[in-house]
Amino acid sequence: MALFITFEGGEGSGKSSALAKIVEVFKEKNIPFILTREPGGTPIGEEIRDILLSSQNENMDIRTEALLFAASRRQHLTKRIWPALEKNVYVLCDRYLDSSLAYQGAARKLGIETVYEINRFATEDSLPDLTFFFDITPEEGLARIAKNKGREVNRLDKETLDFHHAVYDGYIELCKKFPKRIIRIDASQELDKVVSDCLIILKERMSEL
Ligand SMILES: Nc1ncnc2c1ncn2[C@@H]1O[C@H](COP(=O)(O)OP(=O)(O)OP(=O)(O)O)[C@@H](O)[C@H]1O
Ligand SMILES: [Mg+2]
Repeated sequence: MALFITFEGGEGSGKSSALAKIVEVFKEKNIPFILTREPGGTPIGEEIRDILLSSQNENMDIRTEALLFAASRRQHLTKRIWPALEKNVYVLCDRYLDSSLAYQGAARKLGIETVYEINRFATEDSLPDLTFFFDITPEEGLARIAKNKGREVNRLDKETLDFHHAVYDGYIELCKKFPKRIIRIDASQELDKVVSDCLIILKERMSEL
């Protein structure tokens, strides 16, 4: 059975960079997969993403924000994730539910349990089989983004350092809450080492690798 695998962590933790390398290994081994991301992953989801990340939407209500993420997730699950898994296709997803729990639940202070509840409605309790948490201090992650001129700064990047620390603390809480599902990866290492650490775990779970 194909697995639903998500990649989590703060801004600049290297999720997208590592995923780009991990999918190369899937391709080499002819393992069927889709690479997708949240918010987004579907045409409707990408439109919601634009609303969520637009620098013009600075006065967005916190619950509106949480509901939009959940709405994008619902569309993503029904139109892409579940159909892929039904066809035995692996799903590699850049951010998912834990991002909502860490950002809206912990950092925006809606509460992890509250945000989990609205996401239970959206996802019908569909949790990933495996989640990598890319563990790096917010200072280091944000410094990487500052160095990278190719990436536009979005609404959430503009939050204070305190916000990013609260996101980080939220992820640590989630690691404790879901110790079987979430695997912590030392994301301060060089990219190749980060990727090989992920692959070690994936090889344990996947006979195809
Ligand atoms: N292990 C690493 N060591 C040094 N630099 C890295 C590493 N991983 C990624 N980078 C660089 O850090 C920057 C951010 O990486 P990336 O975009 O992959 O992070 P991300 O976790 O996807 O961030 P976001 O949540 O903002 O999408 C990029 O410039 C990337 O080249
Ligand atoms: Mg990214």
